[in-house]
Amino acid sequence: MTQNESYVVTIDGPGGSGKGSLALRLARHLGFHLLDSGAIYRLAALKALREDADLNDEKSVVDSLSDFNIRFEEGDELSIPYLDDEDVSSQIRLESTADAASVIAVYPGVRLRLLDRQRQCFQSPGLVADGRDMGTVVFPKARIKFFLYASPEVRAQRRHKQLISMGISVNIAQLESEISERDQRDRDRSESPLVPSSDALVVDSSLLDLDQVTELMISHIEEVIQ
Ligand code: C5P
Repeated sequence: MTQNESYVVTIDGPGGSGKGSLALRLARHLGFHLLDSGAIYRLAALKALREDADLNDEKSVVDSLSDFNIRFEEGDELSIPYLDDEDVSSQIRLESTADAASVIAVYPGVRLRLLDRQRQCFQSPGLVADGRDMGTVVFPKARIKFFLYASPEVRAQRRHKQLISMGISVNIAQLESEISERDQRDRDRSESPLVPSSDALVVDSSLLDLDQVTELMISHIEEVIQ
């Protein structure tokens, strides 16, 4: 299918800014498909770990992805990620996987390897894509772009709540420092750093709840589409 980026909505921002929940809500509202690009980076990290790749060596990581067999199945709430036909929903949500993902995400060879896989997620009638470089690199011509921000404290609290609801217990102070470390790595990398696209609407969600941000985003989409 030819990709028509007019029907792509991108949501970029740091971890815990609410991207995932908002992308799901917008996709449902618009009747669009969903791309959680972070899940693809996490799956790549899991694959590299399983292949015993040296995470400090770009070539070793890229080589470990030569046979990268992933798929997503629509579940009741979220889609279920499969790596080599195994449901890895819980493994990819571990903080250790997120850390490994942020380490391998700095490598240009890894980003290039995952680029087409992300673009292939475009399907009619449209796509809501969330990540770090959706509006800047993966779908630069998308008609509607958001960049979500929230303070590191608020993001750590949100992530903590999310992990607890999944039965994963973590220390909040440690979580905050891990989040800050990953943010810095995402912002400082030379390839596709975490920056707002110049044509994105930047939203600070620190003091807003999910319903308020959803409302704000939907009214922006309606304004652009009219
Ligand atoms: O969004 P999530 O926390 O699942 O992403 C995990 C890691 O994958 C991020 O910390 C980031 O380093 C990387 N990532 C990326 N580009 C994306 C999505 C995720 O570099 N589009």
